[in-house]
Amino acid sequence: MSSEPGSLSSSFGGAAAAYARHRPDYARAAVRWTLDAASGGRVLDLGAGTGKLTATLLEVGADVVAVEPDPAMLAELRGALPTVRALQGSAEQIPLPDDSVDAVVAGHAMHWFDMAVAGPEIARVLVPGGVLAGLWNVVDDRVDWVSALGRVGGSAAIGARDLFSTWRAATSDAHLPVNGQGRFGFAEQAEFPHDQRHTADSLVAKIATHAGLLVMPEQEREATLDRIRDLLASRPETARGAFALPMLTGVSRARRL
Ligand SMILES: C[S@@+](CC[C@H](N)C(=O)[O-])C[C@H]1O[C@@H](n2cnc3c(N)ncnc32)[C@H](O)[C@@H]1O
Repeated sequence: MSSEPGSLSSSFGGAAAAYARHRPDYARAAVRWTLDAASGGRVLDLGAGTGKLTATLLEVGADVVAVEPDPAMLAELRGALPTVRALQGSAEQIPLPDDSVDAVVAGHAMHWFDMAVAGPEIARVLVPGGVLAGLWNVVDDRVDWVSALGRVGGSAAIGARDLFSTWRAATSDAHLPVNGQGRFGFAEQAEFPHDQRHTADSLVAKIATHAGLLVMPEQEREATLDRIRDLLASRPETARGAFALPMLTGVSRARRL
């Protein structure tokens, strides 16, 4: 994946405050399962963004260092979690010594890494047998109105990685280089129930922070958000007041070979 300015992977910084406000944290059970496989508690949160996963890691007692390339996202993280060691860097260039962490985790970020470069770099900072895990919050499209939301939003708003029914297939190889031999074994995948309280307005604001919408031409973006608004206004579950967005945290974890 590219990190050039204007690319999907570098689109988040311009919306860092909205990201911090509207994006969800992660199911604690998912984070515990991720770290169960590690031999110690030192964890690198890679592509840490504004610190959504970092906060859940802290809640379960991990000794966390956060690494993030985007200065605006990093500033939000430092403001929200001032005691966390937070460094500027990327998956392809990690500012940590060899063999220094027991697990590397990435929340909604591993799909942006260039694993041909990032794989060896992640393996370098991990202890032998260390864990590499990607976590994704997926919406539960077994629920009728959530599945309608996916259809109405379209794949730029809610893609294969964002849906319960498709996230496993969409991410099972995310820890390996495209067409290449990786430094990690096969990925074990599991989901853990989660949800996030929303109003229709806050759910629209959350979806507006998805990368596909951040890089969309203005008119198309407004049309997409309008379709989502109309759907939410038409459904009894979401038309009035606050509701829970049914989600799961999906984890894909592998070991350093
Ligand atoms: C969708 S956000 C997720 C942020 C955070 N982990 C979370 O759970 O909310 C993706 C993050 O990955 C970062 N990112 C993009 N390319 C990256 C790379 N090559 N190495 C590390 N992080 C990267 C972006 O700057 C952004 O902060």
